[in-house]
Amino acid sequence: MEKVAATRFLICSLFAVLCLFSYPANSSEVEDEREFSYDEDEDTGPSRWGEIKEEWRVCKNGTMQSPIDVLNKRVRVVSHLGALQMKYHPSNATLKNRGHDIMLEWAAGAGYLQINETQYVLRQCHWHSFSEHTIDGKRLDLELHMVHETEAGETAVIAILYKIGKPDAFLSSLTEGLKAVSDTTETEEQVGMVDPWLIKTSSLRYYRYLGSLTTPPCSENVVWTILGEVKTVAKEQVNLLRNAVDDGSEINARPLQPINNRLVELYQPKASKKD
Ligand SMILES: *[C@@H]1O[C@H](CO)[C@@H](O)[C@H](O)[C@H]1NC(C)=O
Ligand SMILES: *[C@@H]1O[C@H](CO)[C@@H](O)[C@H](O)[C@H]1NC(C)=O
Ligand SMILES: *[C@@H]1O[C@H](CO)[C@@H](O)[C@H](O)[C@H]1NC(C)=O
Ligand SMILES: *[C@@H]1O[C@H](CO)[C@@H](O)[C@H](O)[C@H]1NC(C)=O
Repeated sequence: MEKVAATRFLICSLFAVLCLFSYPANSSEVEDEREFSYDEDEDTGPSRWGEIKEEWRVCKNGTMQSPIDVLNKRVRVVSHLGALQMKYHPSNATLKNRGHDIMLEWAAGAGYLQINETQYVLRQCHWHSFSEHTIDGKRLDLELHMVHETEAGETAVIAILYKIGKPDAFLSSLTEGLKAVSDTTETEEQVGMVDPWLIKTSSLRYYRYLGSLTTPPCSENVVWTILGEVKTVAKEQVNLLRNAVDDGSEINARPLQPINNRLVELYQPKASKKD
C-alpha cells in the first residue's frame, strides 16, 4: 500500500495535471476494495493473481490464457470461419465503474453473436488501456471487449483495437455517463437505450483463437475474435476512461501470456483485397 502511495506521489509530482483527476479522495478506501491490481510491484499484481484465491488459480496454471501477441506471419489464413454473424438490437444499458475498468452493461442482453450453432448473448462491454492484445508486437492505445455469454456460461469476446486519432463516436455518445461514474464505484448511471451497432466497424477480417478472460478468475475456453480493423479514439477519451477508473494504476491491461502451441486463425473474405 505504501508503495502505491509513493508511486502515486511520484506520478503526481511529475504529471500534476493527471492528478487533478486521479488522486482519490480517500485512498485507503479505494485500495481496500481492490482484490487484484495491474501493478507488478504490488502483492496483488498480475503475476500473482493465481495465488490470491483458489478460484483464480487458472490465472497462473492455465495453458490458454489471454491476452496474446498475434503474429501475422504465424496465423493461418482461412475462409471457412465465414463472416461474423451478429444480430444486435438496442437495449437498456447501465454504466458501472468496477474499480478496475468501466463497463457498459445491457442487463437484458442486446442481441447475440452466433458462432457455429451457438448463440452468445451480448451482455456488456468494457475498455482496457493500453490494448491487451498486441499485433506483431505492437501495443495499441485502447481495447474494447464486447462480452457475449450463453446460458451455460460459455463466453465469446469480440475485441476492437484503437489508436489515438479522431474521437470514437460510441464513446462520445457516453461522455456524460462516463463523467458521472468517474472516481466512484458507488453509483451506476442509467444511460437508456444503447445500440451496440453504434460501435461501428467496417472490417470483415478477424482473428480467432481460444483463450481466457483477461481478469480474474481468468476462466478458459473463451472464444476470442479480434477485429482486423484498428479504429481511432481521441486522447481525451482514453484519459477519461483511465482517470475514471482511478485504481492508482496508469493502465488496466494484463501482460501478454504464453501462446503455447495455440493456433490463431485469420478470416479473410475471398473477394476483399484491401481489408
Ligand atoms: C477513509 O476511509 C477509511 C475507511 O473507510 C476511514 O476510516 C477514514 O476515516 C477515511 N478517511 C478520510 C480522510 O475520509
Ligand atoms: C490448475 O488448478 C486447478 C485448481 O486447483 C486444478 O483443478 C487444475 O487441474 C490445475 N491445472 C493444471 C494444468 O495444473
Ligand atoms: C431502463 O431502465 C430504467 C431503470 O431500470 C427504467 O427506469 C427505464 O424505464 C428503462 N427503459 C426502458 C426503455 O426499458
Ligand atoms: C466451429 O465448428 C468448427 C468445425 O466443426 C470447429 O472446428 C470449431 O472449433 C468450432 N468453433 C467454435 C468456437 O465452437
